[in-house]
Amino acid sequence: MRVFVIIPAAGIGTRMAAGGMSTAAPKQFLEVGGVPILIRSLRTFLSVPRVDAVCVAVRASERERVEAQIAAYKLGARVHMVEGGENRQQSVWNALSALECEDDDVVLVHDAVRPLIDAKTIERTIDAIESHGAAIVGMPAVDTIKQVERTADGAIITATIPRERVVHAQTPQGAHFSLIYRAFAEAEADGFSGTDEASLMERAGIQVAVVPGSARNFKVTQPGDLELAEFYAGGSTWE
Ligand code: C5P
Repeated sequence: MRVFVIIPAAGIGTRMAAGGMSTAAPKQFLEVGGVPILIRSLRTFLSVPRVDAVCVAVRASERERVEAQIAAYKLGARVHMVEGGENRQQSVWNALSALECEDDDVVLVHDAVRPLIDAKTIERTIDAIESHGAAIVGMPAVDTIKQVERTADGAIITATIPRERVVHAQTPQGAHFSLIYRAFAEAEADGFSGTDEASLMERAGIQVAVVPGSARNFKVTQPGDLELAEFYAGGSTWE
């Protein structure tokens, strides 16, 4: 059994730009502690000995930039690249289709823009996939969760969801290759679009376990998130 990691990194970062921050680069290429966000994510996965290879999905126009960064940080041998798609799911599907996997190999998918993932959480996710077939990292909810209906006058509460029954889905998310591939193939055939791997596996009837996540493993999305990431990174430059 081998472990493959897919890192979708083909987003264009519209929310970061919409927040008033003019960025020449999509958020996965911005730096935290002097190290590009994608490189931080990549490097943590490569630090896990059980990881055999990482496949990064990038836009064709970013390929050279990513190749140069990978070379500069000497991450070469276990890293491959595929072209990203129009949305996250399509980027992951392109990578899944390119992998040469056996059915029982483990595939993990991790958002490039969660640069503060740690090796222990990655290990725990792989262990959970080995024992349950599929698993994701999730953060227990601490706030009270409301279901709302969006109206022209704003959001109106329709229900309160018991928070002990809620987790915030993070990444990595993954499964044995046969399961995650089937879930993506079914979604593709049905024209279903989801924002994470678990939603595709759930609709394919696959049970997905949850491994505890952490606040550090947040998704760099909006202006202000970079400062938070710098704070959590604590000045580490990884040199
Ligand atoms: O869009 P969102 O912020 O949820 O992006 C999560 C991850 O998916 C990011 O790492 C982003 O680069 C990636 N993505 C992608 N292809 C797209 C859109 C997003 O690989 N077309």
